Amino acid sequence: MGLRIVRVADAAAVARTAADLVVGSVARRPASFVAATGTTPMATYAELARRARRGAFDASSLHAFQLDEYVGVARSDRRSLTGWFDRSVVDPLGIDDDRAVRFDGLASDLDGACRRYDDAVARNPFDLAILGLGPNGHLGFNEPPSTADAPTRVVTLTPQSVRSNAAYWGSEADVPRRAVTAGMAQLLSARRVMLLVVGPHKREILRAVVDGPVTDDVPASHLQLHADAIVVADADALGPDPADRRR
Ligand code: PGA
Repeated sequence: MGLRIVRVADAAAVARTAADLVVGSVARRPASFVAATGTTPMATYAELARRARRGAFDASSLHAFQLDEYVGVARSDRRSLTGWFDRSVVDPLGIDDDRAVRFDGLASDLDGACRRYDDAVARNPFDLAILGLGPNGHLGFNEPPSTADAPTRVVTLTPQSVRSNAAYWGSEADVPRRAVTAGMAQLLSARRVMLLVVGPHKREILRAVVDGPVTDDVPASHLQLHADAIVVADADALGPDPADRRR
């Protein structure tokens, strides 16, 4: 129990370390993983794609699950997270299309789509969840407050998430207010959870996740109770190394 912290120097080292962990975590076949979009994991996926191209990593038989999607956004929209998932994970890693599990932001029955997602997770339990950390402590779009048993569902974005995604949409007014997200229950059911955190702007929330109380108000703090949760973070996100301070 408890979060394992892997401290590395910079974003490039996060990507290399995370790629090693991915390869090790999905070595058993058939394996299944859920992959976040967002800025943080992109270098990790690029590193995995390089390894796949030179034959050092075979992802073709893996089940890959999308983490979240905006409601009302078509897959063909350049801001769709489904499109981003395809461009950064499914295509470059060479994952079979029929093993990719996606959300349809335009689905007329979103609740039904969420139940089907959870059924797919139950059939292919996650060996690994590759996650980033939201500035409000969210995992996927499990916005605060989120209980540890929250299922895959439709959510309303908090103002903080709207603000942090405005850059992708042009302005805050353009950011969709609703999303579908893999549930906390599904993410926490992963055999291993890897949380990637880069940059000084994540320092404060990362400290709350790691050292604060386990609380629904910081959804990622529930990882403290996970059997195999690993934070891979750079020095900017973690702040000064306590070992250095002791010297
Ligand atoms: P980021 O997003 O990787 O773009 O910082 C993380 C998140 O908001 O979940």
